[in-house]
Amino acid sequence: MTRSLYVIGNWKMHKTINEAVNFINDFSKSLTDQQHAYLAVPFTALSPSAKIAEQNGSLHIGAQNMHDVSEGAFTGEVSAMMLKEAGASFVLLGHSERRQYFNESNAFINAKIKKALSEGIQPVLCIGESIEERESGKTMDILNTQLSECLDGVDAEAMASIVIAYEPVWAIGSGLSASPEIAQETASSIREQLSAIYSKDISDLTSLLYGGSVKVENVNAYVNEKDIDGVLVGGASLNEKVFAEIVKTVYNSRLVKS
Ligand code: PGA
Repeated sequence: MTRSLYVIGNWKMHKTINEAVNFINDFSKSLTDQQHAYLAVPFTALSPSAKIAEQNGSLHIGAQNMHDVSEGAFTGEVSAMMLKEAGASFVLLGHSERRQYFNESNAFINAKIKKALSEGIQPVLCIGESIEERESGKTMDILNTQLSECLDGVDAEAMASIVIAYEPVWAIGSGLSASPEIAQETASSIREQLSAIYSKDISDLTSLLYGGSVKVENVNAYVNEKDIDGVLVGGASLNEKVFAEIVKTVYNSRLVKS
């Protein structure tokens, strides 16, 4: 059983085109052929970032959101086809900030996943519980609902190109990262749920990431956990040296893990 390893940076609403280009020019030099990194950049920076990344087989550029229909009267939205042409190879879907500030439902995220798959863009499905949900013992109910509704009608074959990021809402941007034990315990329950929805084989092959206040100092502990196959990094991906250090640390600890 081999699962792919992912280190994904999520810039959120940070970096102009110039800032993105400067970052990527520097950062891409730190990657080796074996060490891959993924960056979810703002829409405006997609095309220039992807053009630089093309020269470097180890850096993959993606988007942070998209709409589920191909085109139409949806002011302010961007389609999968547009992302693809701009050079996005993956897209974050269902990030808790989209759910919280833009009222995205599991049904909408489900439609986006199907659209991304049909355009050949790899979906990174983000799921996570709030602090109230965790404290009232509802974490797995919430995650199971997010999983089954977001993956509704997504067939087993398509799971080969889907990555799932577990991001407890209370750990995002708060500095309060989940302990590696909590992250592992939850990742293992997510894997059980995937096994129930699909099969043990599919579940065993799905890459599960942890996200929420990941930094150089704690990344090693997460990726050493059995069910965690990488990280989704917000704040700590904004500085090229820090993000390069995170990538290096993940790949070094992976060698120890396997
Ligand atoms: P953070 O964000 O690393 O700043 O907590 C993670 C995310 O939102 O993906």
